[in-house]
Amino acid sequence: MNFRAQYEIYRSHFEQYLQNMCVGMSFKPDVLTESMSYSLLAGGKRVRPVLFFSALEAFGRSFCGEEPLAFALECIHTYSLIHDDLPAMDNDDFRRGRPSNHKAFGEANAILAGDALLSYAFDIMLSECSRGTEYLRAAQVLSRAAGAAGMVSGQSLDLLCTGGTGGEGELREIYRNKTGRLIAAPVVMAAVLAGGDVRRAEEFGLALGDLFQLTDDILDAVGSREALGKSVGKDVQEDKLTAVKVYGLTGAREQSEACADRCLDILHTMAGTDTAFLSEFVGYVSRRDR
Ligand code: IPE
Ligand code: IPE
Ligand code: MG
Ligand code: MG
Ligand code: MG
Repeated sequence: MNFRAQYEIYRSHFEQYLQNMCVGMSFKPDVLTESMSYSLLAGGKRVRPVLFFSALEAFGRSFCGEEPLAFALECIHTYSLIHDDLPAMDNDDFRRGRPSNHKAFGEANAILAGDALLSYAFDIMLSECSRGTEYLRAAQVLSRAAGAAGMVSGQSLDLLCTGGTGGEGELREIYRNKTGRLIAAPVVMAAVLAGGDVRRAEEFGLALGDLFQLTDDILDAVGSREALGKSVGKDVQEDKLTAVKVYGLTGAREQSEACADRCLDILHTMAGTDTAFLSEFVGYVSRRDR
């Protein structure tokens, strides 16, 4: 089966689960449920759930029945986007092809939608823990990737470096934490659940995270708002510390090619793992336009 078709199988399986979860949400007042669903259902690429499902299969385990952790991860990612767009952070009005959460529901409701999605993710992770100690370990991986030693740390440094400070070292640190940790988490969680090589999984996931953010920075400079479903040109406008700022556009593209090669090199060292889909995933990330 070709890559696109396989991606679509993982994505639509997840989408169906997500929709059912949203139908079942009835938090009060209604605006809370509406604002949570608004961003969850806005149709992201579902890269992290797809990575989780495909990595489970790569390590020899079925993804059916593992939807809750994928959902928790997408809730955390979606909360990070809602807060990232807030006026106090990146001040972005457009996300996933529609007005940002705070534009649709107001700033206070957007903050609360993010809070609620994060807490909901922990609720789901805790329920999964009753399935065994490997689920406890997987939940720990995701908790750490999301928090002050992971995505939140990266966002904090990103803000600190906005407006002129920082160089390559800070950029690497921002990449690793704000993006890398939540891209690596599904691969590492899959390795934990399937008894795969956790260290290699993390190495691959972090390299893929670097590649993902390199293309994100490049697309902010040269991509289209229609394809991306989010604002472009904002990084220069806000004077963000990005790969394009540090290396220039050509340099960032070279970095992206080198990073894709590094991802593939790591996959080649993963004996006993079916890396075919993940190898194509690397190509998909480096060539993406959205
Ligand atoms: C955007 O993530 C934020 C970054 C970490 C670069 P995605 O590009 O995965 O966004 P969605 O989920 O498809 O909207
Ligand atoms: C954000 O990075 C990463 C997150 C943790 C949400 P960006 O600020 O570059 O993401 P976009 O470009 O707004 O999606
Ligand atoms: Mg940001
Ligand atoms: Mg942003
Ligand atoms: Mg960006």
